[in-house]
Amino acid sequence: MDLLKEIKKIESEAQEKFKKVENLKRLEKLRVKYLGKKGKIAQIFSKMGQVADEQKPIVGKETNILKNKIQKLYNQLKEEKEKELKAEKLKSETIDVTLPGNKVDVGHKNPFTHIIDEVVELFLGMGFSIEEGPEVETEYYNFEALNIPKDHPARDLQDTLYIDDQYLLRTHTSPVQIRTMEKEEPPIKIIAPGRVYRSDELDASHSPNFHQIEGLVIDKDISFSDLKGVIEIFIHEIYGKERKIRFRPSYFPFTEPSAEVDVSCNVCKGKGCSLCSYTGWVEVLGSGMVHPNVLKMSGLDPDIYSGFAFGMGWDRIAMLKYDIDDIRVLYENDKRFIHQF
Ligand code: PHE
Repeated sequence: MDLLKEIKKIESEAQEKFKKVENLKRLEKLRVKYLGKKGKIAQIFSKMGQVADEQKPIVGKETNILKNKIQKLYNQLKEEKEKELKAEKLKSETIDVTLPGNKVDVGHKNPFTHIIDEVVELFLGMGFSIEEGPEVETEYYNFEALNIPKDHPARDLQDTLYIDDQYLLRTHTSPVQIRTMEKEEPPIKIIAPGRVYRSDELDASHSPNFHQIEGLVIDKDISFSDLKGVIEIFIHEIYGKERKIRFRPSYFPFTEPSAEVDVSCNVCKGKGCSLCSYTGWVEVLGSGMVHPNVLKMSGLDPDIYSGFAFGMGWDRIAMLKYDIDDIRVLYENDKRFIHQF
């Protein structure tokens, strides 16, 4: 066969095939087929021996032209295909900043923390400072020094979790009163928030572990009206000025006189509902004038000093603020609940 004809045929065939190439892999195969060591071009060169001498320069020249054409074609396509590949890769890896992001579930303050921060802030503003005491207490600080002798029925009222016959888990924050009076000279004006324990079963209104905040003011000439004033400010600031306040005579061994303080129910506005057990009032705290025995035992002269104390549960404070009638929701940390505050 005429080699020049074959060259033409290879050229048109190559043009066709290269045009249709889809990817770099196919392109490489074509390169081998035409330009490789045993490729079509090489085959023509190997047939050169059969060509008549005067034809050799022409066939040689045409073969070289073909080789260059195919090489050029290959180079062009390779560049093109590489560009395409890069563009595709870029496209698949680009971040679309307009897409909505993944939602991060952020934490939230427990309503307790919220309200206690607010209460503490209020008392700090009235010149109180913060005191702390141990959760593992001695019988002396939890009972004895608070005028609750060994056989006193008040000890039963506060079902105590004993560690041994000397140590117990404090049943209230009142021992901090004693610890403060022992180490500080009046005037004393402190609050003491903290954890307390009682051997209660967990139900809608009881928990074996809860929190209280204690208040103590000792100075010369402190009277019951000072106690009333502080409590009124506290209630009106935290719950609103429209709330009514009721001081109800009560009994605590460490205060005399003693009073429990009620606030008008926010749910029924005093008419009576399940939150306030149909009384129109919700109890918030216990309070009273510090008993002279307690002052004496703590090393203070009751003829010179007097003072008042109050104590309240955080759950009561929160229930009243948020109109919650089941304290368990405050401890469960269910985000659906917590996120409402
Ligand atoms: N400690 C009392 C209780 O736990 C509350 C209280 C504190 C009462 C201070 C009077 C004075 O119930």
